[in-house]
Amino acid sequence: MALLLDRETIRGLVDMEGAVGIIEQAFAELAEGTSIMPQRTAETDAEHNGWYAFMPAQLKNMGALGIKAVTVYKDNPSKHDLPSTLATIVLLDGETGQALSVMDGGYLTAVRTGAVTGLATKHLARADATVAGVLGAGVQARAQLQGMSVARKLERILCYSQDPPDAQQAFAGEMSELLGVPVEVAESGRAVIEGADILSLATTAATPILDGDWIREGTHINAIGSHAPGVRELDTRSVVRSKIVCDQLAACLAEAGDIQIPIEEGALSADDLYGELGELVTGRKKGRENDQEITLFKSVGLSIQDISIASFVYHQAVEKGVGTEFNF
Ligand SMILES: NC(=O)c1ccc[n+]([C@@H]2O[C@H](COP(=O)([O-])OP(=O)(O)OC[C@H]3O[C@@H](n4cnc5c(N)ncnc54)[C@H](O)[C@@H]3O)[C@@H](O)[C@H]2O)c1
Repeated sequence: MALLLDRETIRGLVDMEGAVGIIEQAFAELAEGTSIMPQRTAETDAEHNGWYAFMPAQLKNMGALGIKAVTVYKDNPSKHDLPSTLATIVLLDGETGQALSVMDGGYLTAVRTGAVTGLATKHLARADATVAGVLGAGVQARAQLQGMSVARKLERILCYSQDPPDAQQAFAGEMSELLGVPVEVAESGRAVIEGADILSLATTAATPILDGDWIREGTHINAIGSHAPGVRELDTRSVVRSKIVCDQLAACLAEAGDIQIPIEEGALSADDLYGELGELVTGRKKGRENDQEITLFKSVGLSIQDISIASFVYHQAVEKGVGTEFNF
């Protein structure tokens, strides 16, 4: 029997603090070589302003095996009243290959992306960081703020997006209530960059949304919004000024315009990339080393994140007796 799990059921099965812990284990497995993660098949669908990918992974210590099909169609909110990011996860039995679960992966994509930001922030933000900033006010931005809140005790949050003013205010009100921290809509993206100790870039922008000279010393940046060649949120100056940690070096070199474009310009080389998040988690490399450095976590999103969280959610669902059983 496979368990069908919809978004609403999944919401009650995992919280952000728990998700950060699971993602930490997943990155430890990646660094220690106990996971198998073939490079995902990712394509851009220019005709529909979209992108799709198929992402398999096996995590041996967790006993998790599966694949996520994920799409990002950027016109979905305006044209179809649908989220930009949609996904479905198929989880398999690691011994027999039988389908254990088919579940919504859209909500989990936001949770695991917020969780990886929480984990990176834990290792890379200044210990005394209290002000977070987010660019973007969509599904990912909400989870980004939750992830950063798990990593540091926030006292203030600044946000800015291209949404209409009333939508930006609604986002600020919702997040303030959820996190118990004052959230202010800033007058510009620049005001967010200049005012925050920890930043998250979570937009659908295709060209840079900041100028590297705006970034204060000691800032930590999580850049999660862009993850395709030719597309970037960061300008070259931001990247060159930063100590760069990738979710995975090979994936970022293959897919992240944020990294590829400065390399093509000759401003950066692959050797300038400091390392991978798994190396920080396992203590092989140090995270932040002083209060002055600008640290940058670049995430394109990895299938180990999805399959580890999906496996946890499946086991929670079995324990709680929720979901719909289906015999293939
Ligand atoms: N790295 C990862 O693992 C990962 C995972 C999921 C989604 N994503 C990416 O995150 C991005 C956001 O996804 P979402 O689901 O939240 O989208 P969404 O459509 O819900 O929200 C997009 C937000 O970006 C804002 N925006 C667009 N251009 C901007 C600009 N120039 N300046 C300021 N704000 C701007 C919009 O106003 C909106 O608030 C997408 O590009 C998606 O592909 C990355």
